[in-house]
Amino acid sequence: MTAWEVTADLAVVGTGVAGLTAALRAVELGLRVVAVAKTTVEDGNTRWAQGGIAVVLPGQRLSPSGDSVDAHVADTLSAGAGLCDEAATRTILAAGPSAVNALRAHGAVFDGGWADVQRTREGGHRAYRVIHAGGDATGAEIERALAGSARGRQMALLEGQSVTEVLRDDTGRVAGLALLDEHGGGVLRARAVLLATGGLGQLYAASTNADVATGDGVALALRAGALTADLEFVQFHPTALYLGTGARGRQPLVTEAIRGEGAVLLDTAGAPVMTGVHPLGALAPRDVVAAAITRRMAVTGSDHVLLDATHLGGVELRRRFPTVHAACRSIGVDPGYEPIPVVPAAHYQCGGVVTDTSGRTTVPGLYAAGEVARTGLHGANRLASNSLLEGLVMGGRAAEAVAADLTVSRCPGPPLPCYQLRPIADRDVLQQSMSAHAGIGRDSAGLAAASAVAGTTTRRRIRTPRDAEDAGLTLVAAAVLAAAAARTESRGCHLRTDHPRQAKRLRRSIAVVLDDAGNPVPAEPALVGGVA
Ligand code: SIN
Repeated sequence: MTAWEVTADLAVVGTGVAGLTAALRAVELGLRVVAVAKTTVEDGNTRWAQGGIAVVLPGQRLSPSGDSVDAHVADTLSAGAGLCDEAATRTILAAGPSAVNALRAHGAVFDGGWADVQRTREGGHRAYRVIHAGGDATGAEIERALAGSARGRQMALLEGQSVTEVLRDDTGRVAGLALLDEHGGGVLRARAVLLATGGLGQLYAASTNADVATGDGVALALRAGALTADLEFVQFHPTALYLGTGARGRQPLVTEAIRGEGAVLLDTAGAPVMTGVHPLGALAPRDVVAAAITRRMAVTGSDHVLLDATHLGGVELRRRFPTVHAACRSIGVDPGYEPIPVVPAAHYQCGGVVTDTSGRTTVPGLYAAGEVARTGLHGANRLASNSLLEGLVMGGRAAEAVAADLTVSRCPGPPLPCYQLRPIADRDVLQQSMSAHAGIGRDSAGLAAASAVAGTTTRRRIRTPRDAEDAGLTLVAAAVLAAAAARTESRGCHLRTDHPRQAKRLRRSIAVVLDDAGNPVPAEPALVGGVA
């Protein structure tokens, strides 16, 4: 039963980089904004981001690295393995400098100071264009700056609230959100809803993502009738810190920027992993490195490989990579003297809710930005450090789209009651099955086995925030598996052992919608355009 009701022009779900950027911009534009966080405003995935923001700054064209937006676009398209939307890629990357400037206006400080900002390289980048903060604590600095601004503004922050449904009126227009906390439910009536819920790392047994990354936004959007695409492309980060056999939950990241500073990948017998695999060696795009590591682990029978950064020395590692250094020390490894044990782990959702380059989804009044959205920037494999940039650019643009749309759109009617009996699978079993069958190296038998697990559910009323997450995880697992089964080829992060090559006819995005029974199914190819 609804215990309370509030109203807003815009409800922002999620308070990472995209959500807070959108909320702050919407307040600047005069909208009444409510930002909803599942736990606290600061407790999103953004704060764990280490590497940085990939951005070509004005004047950089003339710098020794000879960088340009064209070069950044080229690297992004190449990493995306034929599925990026070139026009979307170009407009998002070109908007980087002003988005970073807006972030600086909220107080974010980058290493080296602005006049002489430091840049590094990460996988797939042919130039030094990744700016960072606090060494390897870029996400924490962004979150600090944006959350600080949000707490000081005319914005309502609803913390500790789970969203169980995007509410719509009898015409299908978005009318608000159904919310739930440990004490009961409530309704937030809003003329527009922006999903900025981050990714789905918790779909897997081990991930670099925060506990809150349970795929909520994709589940909410699917249930609201929105189109999703590219869901099969779940990116595994090549180097999470190896915590032992069968480690579960959030794994500490070992940033790619360490490889950007010359660290090399070795197998447990000491042989280089990346020699002869790709012209960029250890700095190949992430899908290539993660797959090479997985193959080498299979050959050596080991469950991890090694990252040797000893050439940097303990003092430099502690200064430049304090987060990684501390994580290594916490498991008794001294990275200045010995190689770091690492293993691939689920890291980033390349696809998501289909949006245009202003954050509009296919449902009137529903917007999405950040990891939850599929703009066409990432294609089949996201280029490292493009995601914070996308969150900044698209968060701002989505707020501007909402403000523009609200001047011409009518107010939604009363929200229809929502239906909260949902199929829920066992989270632990689901995660183990996704890791076993929907990670790096998939085949039709494994995907069918995982689909059977995702389909083994009980229908339950959503009574707790945990139920809401579990229902979302169950639906999103089925959606990822439906897309993965339909993509009978290997491309980007989607590696099929039974279809090891790319198929020309599949150089297109696979869209997923819900059918009348509420099951995710691939939709017509023509529904998602723009593939370069
Ligand atoms: C990293 O620091 O290696 C991660 C950066 C990213 O995922 O973009």
